[in-house]
Formats: sequence, C-alpha cells, structure tokens
Amino acid sequence: MNGNRPSLFSIGSLLALLAMLAWLLYGCSLWNPSWEIDSPDGKLTVTVTLDDGIPRYALSHQGAPVIHPSRLGFVFRDQPSLNGDLAVTSEQADSQVESWEQPWGEERVIEADYTGLTLKLEERSQLRRHFFLELRAYNDGIGFRCELPEQANLNDFLIMDEQTEFVLAGEHTAWWIPAFWWNRYEYLYRETSLAEIDTVHTPLTLRRNDGLHLSIHEAALTDYASMTLRRSGRDTLQCELVPWSDGVKVRGKTPHHTPWRTVTISADAAGLVTSRLILNLNEPNRLPAADWIKPGKYIGIWWGMHTGEYSWSSGENHGATTARACSYIDFAAEHGFQGVLVEGWNPGWDNDWTRNGELFDFTQAHPDFDLELVTAYAGERGVGLIGHHETGAAAVAYEQQLEEALALYERLGVNTIKTGYVGWEQNIKRPLPEGEVALEWHHGQFMVRHYRRVVEAAARHRIMLDVHEPIKATGIRRTWPNMMTREGARGQEFNAWGPEGGNPPEHTVLLPFTRLLGGPLDFTPGIFELLLPDNPDNRVNTTLAKQLALYVVIYSPLQMAADLPEHYENQPAFKFIEDVPVDWETTLVPHARVGEYITIVRQDRNSPDWYLGSITDSTGRTLTLALDFLEPGQEYRAEIYADAPTADWQENPLALEIENRSVSSETELTLVLAPGGGQAIRFHPLSIGE
Ligand code: NOJ
Ligand code: CA
Repeated sequence: MNGNRPSLFSIGSLLALLAMLAWLLYGCSLWNPSWEIDSPDGKLTVTVTLDDGIPRYALSHQGAPVIHPSRLGFVFRDQPSLNGDLAVTSEQADSQVESWEQPWGEERVIEADYTGLTLKLEERSQLRRHFFLELRAYNDGIGFRCELPEQANLNDFLIMDEQTEFVLAGEHTAWWIPAFWWNRYEYLYRETSLAEIDTVHTPLTLRRNDGLHLSIHEAALTDYASMTLRRSGRDTLQCELVPWSDGVKVRGKTPHHTPWRTVTISADAAGLVTSRLILNLNEPNRLPAADWIKPGKYIGIWWGMHTGEYSWSSGENHGATTARACSYIDFAAEHGFQGVLVEGWNPGWDNDWTRNGELFDFTQAHPDFDLELVTAYAGERGVGLIGHHETGAAAVAYEQQLEEALALYERLGVNTIKTGYVGWEQNIKRPLPEGEVALEWHHGQFMVRHYRRVVEAAARHRIMLDVHEPIKATGIRRTWPNMMTREGARGQEFNAWGPEGGNPPEHTVLLPFTRLLGGPLDFTPGIFELLLPDNPDNRVNTTLAKQLALYVVIYSPLQMAADLPEHYENQPAFKFIEDVPVDWETTLVPHARVGEYITIVRQDRNSPDWYLGSITDSTGRTLTLALDFLEPGQEYRAEIYADAPTADWQENPLALEIENRSVSSETELTLVLAPGGGQAIRFHPLSIGE
C-alpha cells in the first residue's frame, strides 16, 4: 500500500506550485508596489499603490477601509494625460510633533502632529513628466496634494480634469448643498443617502452606518479652481473642478500645486467640529505683527433693509444717513460694540445692482451720508465704521477701484470692510481682448484669484475682511488673519425674505457640521423681534434663547448683533450679547448629532469666563451636562438664558427665563431646550464674598 507516501508526481507539483506562488508574490510586489503611512496615534493608515503604473490612494481607520483604492491624476489640454505609466522614483518621509498659536480663533493652541510622505511619480515613457504626491496623516484626518514641479516637458499647462476620486467604503448618509446652481452656497442642506447625491459643494459631510463621521473638503485653495464632488458611481465621488468659461479647469505654469484634498474622520459628530485639520494644512501667518487685526462685535444699518423698513437706494427711506449712522455709533459706544456696518452709503444701488455692479462707486458717498463726518464721529467714540463694498459680482470693475477705495478707508480709519458679490452663478464678466466679455463662475480659478487679491490688498491697507457671497472657506485665515469671516451659507437674512418662509429650525443644527467645518461664518445672529410684523410670510424660526445660543455655536471672529438697536432697548436678554466674547481659549463639544442638536462650550481668551450655547431642531430636548470643564474648587455664577417651559418656536418664541445659579465643576446641569429652541449660559467665577 502506498496510501501515506506522496507520489513523485505530487511532490513535483507542490514544488512547482510553491515556486509559482513565490514568483507571483514577488512579481506582484514589483508590479504593484505600495507605500504606507500611519497617523501619529496609529488609527489612520494611508496607502498608495501603483497598479500597472496607475496611482491610487486608500484610507483605513483601525484597520478597516474608509476609502477604497481611488485614482489620482491629471488630464491636460494639448498634451497627454499624466495619470498612468508612472513609477515612484523617490520618496521622502517626514513627520511633525508640534503645536502652534492662533492670533484669534476657536482656540489658542492647535495641535499639529502628523506623519507625512512625499512620493515622486514619474512617467516611464520618454516624456518623463512627473509630479510629487504629498501625503499627511493627522490624528483627525488626512490631506494630500499634488505638486507639478518645474521640469523640461511640463511648463505652461491647462488642466481639463483632476481625476482625484473618493471611493467610499460602506453605507453613508450625506448632508450636502448642490454645486453649479445659481445661488452659490446659499441653499438648505439636504440629507440623503450617498447614492442619491448630485454634484455637491464641499465640505461634504458623511455618516457611515457604523457611526464613523467624515467630511471631505479642501484646504488652502490658492490659484486653482474650487473642487466640487460629482457622484460617478454608487459610492464613488469624483473631483469636479469648477471650470473657466472656455471649459479649462486650471491655467497654470510649473511649479504649481493643487490645494490639499482633505478627509476629516471622527468616531462621532463632535470630533468633526473640534478638528483643526483644515487650518493645519494652511501656511503659517504672514501678518504676525498685525496689531490692527481685532476680533469684535458689531451692529449695523442692515437688518432694516432686509425687512424693507429702509432702502439701500437713495430716497426717503434711505437707511445710510449721517444722522442714523451717528445714532448707531452712540449705541455701539454705549454697549461696547467695536464696529458699525453701514450698507447703502455709496452710489450704485439705484439700479438693478445685481446685474449692474459696474455702476458701484467705492470712493463717493451719497449726499445724505457724510463719510468724513461719520468716521470722525466714530473715531472720537472709540468705535470703527465697517465699510461696505457690494460689487454686484462685477469683480473686474471692483478691482479697478480697489486700491483707491482701500486707501480712502485706510485714511479715514475704517479698518474693516464687508464685501459682497450678489449675482448669478455664471455672471462674473471677464473682459476679453476684442471687446467681448466671457462669463465666469463664482467659484472657478478666475474668482479664487480675485478673492485672494482683495485679501492681500486689504492687508496692505491694514484692513480686515468680512466677505459675503465668498469663495468657500479653506483655512486661509491662518495665512491671512485679516480674512476674518465670511458668509457662504443661507444666513439670517433669509429669515427676512427667503423662500420657504426663511431658514427652518434644523438649518442652524446643520451648519456647525457642514459649512462651519470650512471656517468662520458671518451668520448675523441676535434678532429679538422674531415675528417681523411687516412681513407676514416671513419670521425668524427660532426661540429668543436660541438666538442667544447662536453666538457661541456659530463661530465668527466678527459677530453681529443683527437687529435694529431699538429692538434691544429694555431687553434683559441683550446683556448676553453684550457679554459674549468672540475670541476663545478653547472649545468643547459635549453634545452633537448632525441636524438634530449641538452644545458648544468655549472659554473666553481674555478672562476666566466660560460660555455655553446649546440648540436644537424643531424637537424639544433635555440634555444633561457635567460642568467638569470648570476650574475645580472654584464657584461660578451661571447666568442662564433658557427657553421658558411654555416656549416653542412656532407658538411662543419669546418666552425666555433668565436665572442666576451658583455652580462648580461638580455640578450636573440639565438643559431643557424648547422645540426650535436653545440655551445660552455665561459662567463667571465668583470671588469670595460675591
Ligand atoms: C447679501 C449679503 O449677504 C447681505 O448681508 C447684504 O446686506 C446684501 N447682499 C447687500 O449687499
Ligand atoms: Ca448673502
């Protein structure tokens, strides 16, 4: 019997099989090599593979895939694509253990530890064109970008497509606003499955069925087209750059690089809000000595125009009169506001200004607005005028006046300007040589360049910026800290006249998890007359307590008290707006669920006070909070501005209770939020005997 003895034939086949396996493994690793980096805490892994010369990156979290291998590469006009036939010809590891300090922000000290790798990807064919793929893994997410260095066979280029993909692993719920629609970023966020999304703006927020939260965005958008995301397969998103009018996506010359493509990752919704990945991927401060950059609160001749009480245009209801500006300045001085915004001060508003922005004049004032007098009056009272440049989206015409307009404001001591670009999506007029005009998108490279030019010019004139109808926030405030805040969302103004009767209660519990992940938002909270007696179709869809809570929840270094000053007279709740700071030492997010509720707790940067804002959608909620962030052993007075038990955003929005309570780090607070409501608290340390 030879039952137990292997035959010669089977030994031979086994050896052959082993040899084949070894050859295959060896061959594959040569053919499909891979590179890997882990985040400093070891939880995130980024892998780059070259599959027959085609580069892909992948991302995993605690060993499980988050992004399956996804393509990278460029399609050019007038030269072959750079997306295959590549080899890695050099690699450079780098890592950083560091923190840095923000001049102003949600917190003073930012942790910036990362592990990095740069791969040189070079064509194996004669052209030998190449790019550097720079990867960074932080504990809260990843960033990668491509640099096209100076080289013999790649000089001027026209990018027709950036082929960056995001092939997502698992089932996701998505929160998004559509891209390429006429009203720029001013849409309500939608919640759908990933498989149902359209072409969307970033930041795009995703929650996987297992609870992992992701935000896909970009950092340091500089001289490039902004990235939108087009769904190109059930779970695949494709980078879709906003084109120039001729279809080219990016015009450039080597050396040049893409913005960072970013994926923020957190086990819960709160972690998205506290992530500083976007800032970490921006260049350091270029204005380190700028003592003229000052976060602050402001009021303005503004809401009255939105409710129809005043007009921007000249005539008997003209809002921006010398007398009104002076009385607003008095109010600001009395209540400690840094600035007074005046809109409608200059010629250009009497036409259909959204289509005729060229007619705006930024160096002349209306006859009933004495600019010199008003700025002098403000200066004497320690208040600054916030100048206004509405461009009607006529960016080129604005640039022609920019230097003169900024110089005028600088001379008069106007150290902040709110700009505006109301217009339709593709209506930025770009003059062409033969007298023709091309129409550009708001978010293409042409406008990215424009918005940056204005930031840099403003910095030269020592002026801070609040940009409405902006390019999206990608963290450039780190490099240009005079770029204070921006809109780029449906702000409070929609409550005065917007369709759907304004912003629904869930809007403000979506913004912290979507738009605000890019950076500060000038939402303009603080409306006290919620029911707008003259606008029967509109109202502010919150309780009064929620308006207060928004000052803490929606971060902005310039924060407006948006209502008319007369609506704040004799209102005890106004004290919270007077007290609340705009610059923070630290930020915590104890409660968070996308689109449902959020509580944010922040410590003032200039005092030992803490502040809390908690808001909900149309569902009332009771949340408990341990005050263990307070200094142990210290008593605090909690000044609580809460929805009254009968409050409800629809039926009883003004019912507010103000209560002072003594608390400590041992206290557990119960926050009762009415439907559409909120709560705001100031925690002030008590000295002995107080
Ligand atoms: C839209 C801005 O968002 C708003 O704040 C401003 O009042 C108007 N444009 C007019 O410039
Ligand atoms: Ca707007």
